Amino acid sequence: MEKSLLYVSKSLIAPDRKAEAMRDIVMVAQSRNMSLGVTGALIATDSHFAQLLEGTPEAIEEVMGSISEDPRHTDVQVIQDCAIERRRFPKWSMAYSGLATYVAHYVEPLLSDASVDHYPDNARQLTRLMDKLVNG
Ligand SMILES: Cc1cc2nc3c(=O)[nH]c(=O)nc-3n(C[C@H](O)[C@H](O)[C@H](O)COP(=O)(O)O)c2cc1C
Repeated sequence: MEKSLLYVSKSLIAPDRKAEAMRDIVMVAQSRNMSLGVTGALIATDSHFAQLLEGTPEAIEEVMGSISEDPRHTDVQVIQDCAIERRRFPKWSMAYSGLATYVAHYVEPLLSDASVDHYPDNARQLTRLMDKLVNG
């Protein structure tokens, strides 16, 4: 059974380095995810990341091992980790919606509210937002 993992984190990338850093992250993510059969989506605001990863538990664990130790962000909090029957982003080794500031308007409240109590609601809303941005 494949699984889906959604986490949020705080960005440590300086605003003036963000565009360049995101290009690096997405390029590495796409090629490594492709070789591991991982798919998903990444949202970046000025201050936070939200990322959904889909794949075998082993592949997700491998990618998350690197991601959770990446010094470009901190406070990595997994807000959903569950078995899935089919993928939401099967065609995307890592869909990236760009540094759309308008997205921050929707994402920031969810992230600032990422306390354990609100995980299920926030996970559902973040996933729906990613789905809409990527799949239309
Ligand atoms: C917000 C964020 C998202 C990332 N997403 C991925 C990803 O989906 N897949 C991936 O292989 N690396 C991703 N990375 C990069 C990894 O942290 C790491 O730099 C890269 O996988 C190389 O791994 P290594 O340093 O263990 O060789 C991400 C980094 C950040 C900061």
